[in-house]
Amino acid sequence: MALFNNNNTITKDAERAKKRSISALFQTPHRADHFCVKAADLYLDYSKQNITKTELDNLVTWAKRHDLAAKISAMFSGDKINNTEQRAVLHALLRAPASIKAAVLGDEATSVQHTEQRMAQIVDDVHQGKLRSAAGKKYTHVLALGIGGSYYGIKVGLSALHPYHYDGLNVHILANVDGAAVTEKLAQLSVDTTLVIIISKTFTTQETLLNAKAVKQWMIAGQGNDDVITKQWFAISSNVAKAQAFGINKSHVLPMWDWVGGRFSLWSAVGLPLALAIGNQHFNALKAGAYQMDQHFQTADFSSNMPVLMALIGIWNRNGLNYPSLAVLPYDHALRALPGYLQQTDMESNGKSVSNQGEKIHWPTAPIVFGQEGTNGQHAFMQLMHQSDEIIPTDFIVALQGTSSLTEHHRALVANCFAQSEALMQGKSLAQAETELANNGADSAEIARLAPHKTMKGNTPSNTLLMQSLTPTALGAILALYEHKIFVQGVLWQVNSYDQWGVELGKQLGQQVLAYMADNSAEHQMSPSSVKLINTFLANQQ
Ligand code: F6P
Repeated sequence: MALFNNNNTITKDAERAKKRSISALFQTPHRADHFCVKAADLYLDYSKQNITKTELDNLVTWAKRHDLAAKISAMFSGDKINNTEQRAVLHALLRAPASIKAAVLGDEATSVQHTEQRMAQIVDDVHQGKLRSAAGKKYTHVLALGIGGSYYGIKVGLSALHPYHYDGLNVHILANVDGAAVTEKLAQLSVDTTLVIIISKTFTTQETLLNAKAVKQWMIAGQGNDDVITKQWFAISSNVAKAQAFGINKSHVLPMWDWVGGRFSLWSAVGLPLALAIGNQHFNALKAGAYQMDQHFQTADFSSNMPVLMALIGIWNRNGLNYPSLAVLPYDHALRALPGYLQQTDMESNGKSVSNQGEKIHWPTAPIVFGQEGTNGQHAFMQLMHQSDEIIPTDFIVALQGTSSLTEHHRALVANCFAQSEALMQGKSLAQAETELANNGADSAEIARLAPHKTMKGNTPSNTLLMQSLTPTALGAILALYEHKIFVQGVLWQVNSYDQWGVELGKQLGQQVLAYMADNSAEHQMSPSSVKLINTFLANQQ
């Protein structure tokens, strides 16, 4: 069954849309005033999308036919919508008021509240110097060890909210297993002023545990005894036993609940490194911004619901117009980690081809998400976006007010952002290129030679998301916006957005490769290519 079953309205709408120009849609008066929505102090302009009101209305009707409202309610009520792991999906609850937590979680709300209090206390005690190292020194550095969802959310927060960082405390994160990353980081730290937070929901992730082992050895060697671990380490995990077995004081283990997926866990104790960096007040503002978006998502009509509209337009581009990618281009240095964060949040959630009922899916699902901060992308991949045959829908994100005093720089940044969305939509026809060359004095031979190289396809759809300025509240709203967009798309693509079985095979084969490296008589299922590569590696070890 096709996503939009074959002869229905939406399929016909999409066939028609493929043949028209987006720019021409602006002949409808006030399009820019109608194809926009406000929520949680964000403003989304989607008027440069290749879609009409009728087509969008048809998508909203289709979403309603998929019981989207009931699915939203089910998530917020704690139904086990992560059906393959039989778990609820309640990360949004972590930013809701205590009364809502209690209504949904019952007794478990106490554990959540206790954890929130523990987090806040740790932050205050570290900032005030009440929590000190084994050597009795104030902490000046925090090192967070984690990968995937135990890393990306913290990374986005640390870079996005750099202006809010607490003086005198430097928070670092280490994810990759590459020893170069570990040694580079440890060179910046001193044992007796560094607090370590190991973040791993399972406490089994190879990269995190290997890094933790190296940092532990570094600390014990530097301090001379292992009480430095019980004193200076905290763990965020659902596996208390393994954390304790590693040597972490049980009272230093903060929980991760099974109803919070790793890639949605910033709002939990996973956010402790970020809370240490920006303080409790700003961390609470981050959650408040997300909660504002949650309320909008749960109450706004779908036709004026920002996450729902972004989700439907994304499905329109992916399944209606058949565009396989999505570029996320924050025109904001501080949001440079957002594209990477969304690669996990989006592609690890909806990059699936089996439905939540275990049936093969015959339509595309998550797009290939990529991007980097503007204006850098204009000197990297925008050439392809303008002149290849690939149409790549784009999300532009930009703040109306910059955080630096260099107003001329911010004006240039914003101008480039708006210009790129315009250029991607307008393009440049052969006739326009010829006229431009003629106006610049080129003769007919030069015009004939160069004009074809100066044409641009245009007709690339984009959203532009505006915020007043990049505050903790705005960041919270943006992260929640994308979380809910991804949820809605998962519902409509009929996938389970909350498991990630696809990462298991790589992990299993990784163990096989390591075992074979240790003993090449070990059983394996590897190809001659991989065996040869391993042997080449082994032959080239000093
Ligand atoms: O990428 C796979 C994954 O399981 C993510 O979902 C998760 O955030 C990450 O690995 C780290 O897992 P853990 O927090 O258990 O170490």
